[in-house]
Amino acid sequence: MKILLASSEVHPYSKSGGLADMVGALGKTLANLNHEVGIISPLYAGIRERFPDIQPLRYDLSLQMGSKLVDGKVWYLHGPAGQHLYFIENNHYFNRSNYYTEQGSDYPDNDERFFFFSKSVAFLAQNLPWHPEIIHVHDWQVGLVPLLVRHAAQQGNWKQAPATLFTIHNLAYQGVFPASSYSLTNLPDDHFRFEEVEFYGQMNCLKSGIVFADLLTTVSPSYAKEITTEEFGCGLDPLLRIRRNELLGILNGVDYAEWNTTHNSALPAPYTVNDLRGKAINKAFVQQELGLPVRSESPLFGNVSRLAEQKGVDICLEALDALLAADIQFALLGNGQPEFEAAFQALATRYPEKVAVRIGYNHALAHRIEAGADFFLMPSRFEPCGLNQMYSLRYGTIPIVRATGGLDDTIIDDTEDDLRANGLKFHEYSALALIQAMRKALRIHADTPLLLRYRQNGMVADFSWNQTAGEYIRAYKDAKTRAQKRT
Ligand code: ADP
Ligand code: GLC
Repeated sequence: MKILLASSEVHPYSKSGGLADMVGALGKTLANLNHEVGIISPLYAGIRERFPDIQPLRYDLSLQMGSKLVDGKVWYLHGPAGQHLYFIENNHYFNRSNYYTEQGSDYPDNDERFFFFSKSVAFLAQNLPWHPEIIHVHDWQVGLVPLLVRHAAQQGNWKQAPATLFTIHNLAYQGVFPASSYSLTNLPDDHFRFEEVEFYGQMNCLKSGIVFADLLTTVSPSYAKEITTEEFGCGLDPLLRIRRNELLGILNGVDYAEWNTTHNSALPAPYTVNDLRGKAINKAFVQQELGLPVRSESPLFGNVSRLAEQKGVDICLEALDALLAADIQFALLGNGQPEFEAAFQALATRYPEKVAVRIGYNHALAHRIEAGADFFLMPSRFEPCGLNQMYSLRYGTIPIVRATGGLDDTIIDDTEDDLRANGLKFHEYSALALIQAMRKALRIHADTPLLLRYRQNGMVADFSWNQTAGEYIRAYKDAKTRAQKRT
């Protein structure tokens, strides 16, 4: 098939979280399966320097944004497995120090920035010589694309417009802007109504994607069910219930070429499921790197995370406070909400011998914490899929997760299957429930054969992308059929 993916982040060009990993790995897998694949993302600061082979294309973007015309350029990279990688340049919008926020607050022109990006996606989809038959858009930043495509087709400007598939990676981020932002879309006013993009008097980009895409997916089967409920629906559950038969939950895969313990330049020592000696070397290395006492006997709990409410930061802090009297260590790499960053830093100051906190984004250190830790904490309030728990499994690092969304779908605990258990789950969102799970982890740590069994069960779990990519191909075909029926 001929597939165009559009996302505000794509690994290895841009990344702030799992969205980038997912889109990068899906594109690569589809291309390896001989599909024609293009991926569009913004040209952020530093991409041209890090990928010097990138070339300008002949397209000159000149897009109507409200009453003004805004210019942009398109850059191209011939990616792995023959992928076409397109980068939208507009220095005013994208050549900034961050992608979405500054000092904890959204950039005030995020509407304009991502409407421009969405219009660029629609423009390219229409003008690329290889005529994509599917546009697969991800999250609110490109939520307007299905409507833009449909509008152009209805105007008669686009014969055989592609079908659209919208993947929701996180319902909590919707791209909600004042009604006045709508004029920047240059779409007819009649789309600004309750059944379409209007949301409590404002405009909602995610909602627009949900209404207009030919087919919807989200990133785990459990989350697909959860978001149709009021508890997880973030105000959009009534709409998602209406489209529940057109909403699939497809679990993300893992790019094991990237996330492995045998060929990984970020790790000081390789190890395998049959020979875990290298894992102990990784633990000692990361303890030293982070300034913690090098003690093999102290259970090391790791965490690599965006510091947002979603991730269960409050119960994590409370549980650690209660448990740090014991002989344990905790290592965190993360960034996000300033108050959470400060709270973790304060914890490190209180327990300098036991807690190491690194605020910032560091790809190599993320691998080393995954490899060096004994347990990985993911006490999320909600989790659409979650990738770190799957990376942890492959690294022989036992995940401790709250049973929600993709965490529930990927981790097996001993109440589900005693012999195949590969992690610990707790259900109630409370510090106490997390403390109990961490205490159980300490008992597992003290029981060497049991610890080994958990690790080995985790390391052999297989979430490779090939099978997942097949599910997307079926979804693309389904979206095409639906689009044809519609016209
Ligand atoms: P989410 O997308 O909600 O942030 P995921 O578990 O799906 O959560 O994916 C997170 C991805 O981002 C993982 O690849 C993780 O290693 C990476 N990551 C998160 N925070 C950091 C950080 N501070 N430094 C390096 N990598 C990070
Ligand atoms: C989002 C979700 C996360 C998911 C990722 C990739 O960031 O928060 O759970 O793994 O997208 O789909």
